Amino acid sequence: MKYTLANRLSRVEESATLKMAAVTRALVEKGVSILNFSVGEPHFPVPASVQEAAIQAVKAGKNRYSPVPGNADLRARLARKLQEENGLKYKVEEIAVSIGAKQAIYNLMMATLNEGDDVLVPAPYWTSYPEMVKLCGGNPVILATDEKSGFKLTPQALKKGLTSKTKMLLLNSPSNPTGSVYSKIELQGLADVLKGTEVWVCSDEIYEKLLFTETSFTSFASLSDDAFSRTITINGFSKAFAMTGWRLGYAAGPLPLIKAMLLIQGQSTSGANTLAQAAAVTALELGSDYFKTINRELRQCRDLMGDLFSKCPLLSFYLPDGAFYLFVNISKVLGKRTLEGRALINSEEMALHLLEKGHVSTVPGSGFGSDVHLGLSFSARAEDIREGCRRVIQVLEDLR
Ligand SMILES: Cc1ncc(COP(=O)(O)O)c(C=O)c1O
Repeated sequence: MKYTLANRLSRVEESATLKMAAVTRALVEKGVSILNFSVGEPHFPVPASVQEAAIQAVKAGKNRYSPVPGNADLRARLARKLQEENGLKYKVEEIAVSIGAKQAIYNLMMATLNEGDDVLVPAPYWTSYPEMVKLCGGNPVILATDEKSGFKLTPQALKKGLTSKTKMLLLNSPSNPTGSVYSKIELQGLADVLKGTEVWVCSDEIYEKLLFTETSFTSFASLSDDAFSRTITINGFSKAFAMTGWRLGYAAGPLPLIKAMLLIQGQSTSGANTLAQAAAVTALELGSDYFKTINRELRQCRDLMGDLFSKCPLLSFYLPDGAFYLFVNISKVLGKRTLEGRALINSEEMALHLLEKGHVSTVPGSGFGSDVHLGLSFSARAEDIREGCRRVIQVLEDLR
């Protein structure tokens, strides 16, 4: 048996976060105690009312397949959420529930991209975007941003990146991995550039609730009728409600596109988890007090990690306005040597060295479009942040 696999696999790389997670797991299995800052999940629990709703759903016998587009009550509740919280008037039929936001984005690309279509991906980006584009036959076109502009795409850079082959722009605010949040004015600048084009916007709003600034969150689709008509709004329950393992997300957008995405979903995975959908209706009832509490806690985590790293002159970073990641610039230590004399020349080597020497798991920036950064999740217990930062700084200071 030659085990010949599909050609499309040769274009795709393994998820950087999952790769680090696998090495971390292997060390943990050997009995090594690792401080793990490489996973994209909140450290707080699923809210008690949401847990209870899932238990009640099991007892009520809600254990069967769900409709492919999602349960009717959840879709209706999502339509109300999008209207009340985001100013978006989606009809119930224009909302598709999926197995995580990840599946919604994948379905979107499967439904829109033809071989050779370009998708604009501002960097740093969430590690899966370019790989999903490639899996679906498209070309990711990376648009660089810099720390000085808060890692945000400018209208000028967008204009420069647009060509007749551009099919879609990916936007993610608040961003994984940088934590930058676009203001309404900044989004408007991008929307103005797209007017008159046939370019879709995928607005990944999965971190919308995790904010540490006064700037309120703006949904791209809420900017104007033109923005609404070209946008697919993506969101999910993983980050705001810590429901990562429940696998639940959704997309809202123009009906022909939602129908196409559901056709793909119906022939690949079917409807999302029935129990998670029942619990999600309860999650959507959690009010602003819930978000105030988790944001207060996350802000303390961000400030703690930020304070500790700011004392190390080898590191620099942009203090995030949202999400729960710190994207740390390591250019001052790249090229330095370990005690054994091995030069660490890129972010992957640095992340592996930190894992092996400091027993701290981070993610190499290379998987996020910047090889001079490391990504760390600061959603962690204060004592773990303190010890983790101490170890990172120690290992870096030991380099020659
Ligand atoms: C920017 C971004 N979008 C989408 C996802 C996928 O989330 P889900 O768990 O809903 O599939 C993640 C998860 O890390 C993310 O960071």
